[in-house]
Amino acid sequence: MNVSEAINTRMSCRAFLSTPVPEATVREIIEQARRAPSGGNLQPWFVHVLTGEPLRELVGIVRERAIGNPLGEGTEYNIYPPNLKEPYRSRRFKCGEDLYALLDIGRAERERRLRQYARNYEFFGAPVGLFFAIDRSMGTDQWADVGMFMQSIMLLAREQGLHTCPQESWAGWHLIVSEFLRLPPELMLFCGMSLGHRDESHPANRLRTDRAPIEEFATFHGF
Ligand SMILES: Cc1cc2nc3c(=O)[nH]c(=O)nc-3n(C[C@H](O)[C@H](O)[C@H](O)COP(=O)(O)O)c2cc1C
Repeated sequence: MNVSEAINTRMSCRAFLSTPVPEATVREIIEQARRAPSGGNLQPWFVHVLTGEPLRELVGIVRERAIGNPLGEGTEYNIYPPNLKEPYRSRRFKCGEDLYALLDIGRAERERRLRQYARNYEFFGAPVGLFFAIDRSMGTDQWADVGMFMQSIMLLAREQGLHTCPQESWAGWHLIVSEFLRLPPELMLFCGMSLGHRDESHPANRLRTDRAPIEEFATFHGF
């Protein structure tokens, strides 16, 4: 698989088969992803990888705590800026609505929407869940570095025939996750990620999100 194929076939997978992923495969992916660039080569990423019993245990704890609190305990950072402006607001709205349409979940079906959202906290059935953390002293540049590390993992997963879903929604349970992983206080949970084999038959995985044409965001000089 070349880079273009990996980029073009990566998508946020929201239904996985239970087929396990061997430790060696995940290790290989992370081993390679270490080559991600970072400003000053700080490598400001920490990753926890869960499968089997620990994953089931965490999912069970969150499921219990989510009763009556389906959106989580609140985040430590703003997942989106307050009063998200256009065109970002419409883009966000559209990808959500397109997903619910594929799942045949209507606007007014709050219960079903919440249940679908709660699938985040089951890693969408994936056999592997990852958590990414960063030292609290780091700034925006280093958060970008962690993003590049995560994208490297997502592309390398494609090379292994696997799919992923990055999941900031896990930041909504940062206290529980941090305690469960025994993160030292100086580390802050940034994001979760599901990893596994895509359920090809699930309608959620038919979602192919739009992208703006390059004229909208790229400016070429001197060509
Ligand atoms: C940092 C980050 C966090 C995300 N968090 C979530 C999440 O919590 N739940 C979810 O279903 N999708 C999440 N997504 C997936 C985005 O919705 C998705 O990347 C976007 O709509 C583009 O679609 P694509 O990934 O299928 O190309 C996240 C993506 C990124 C990059």
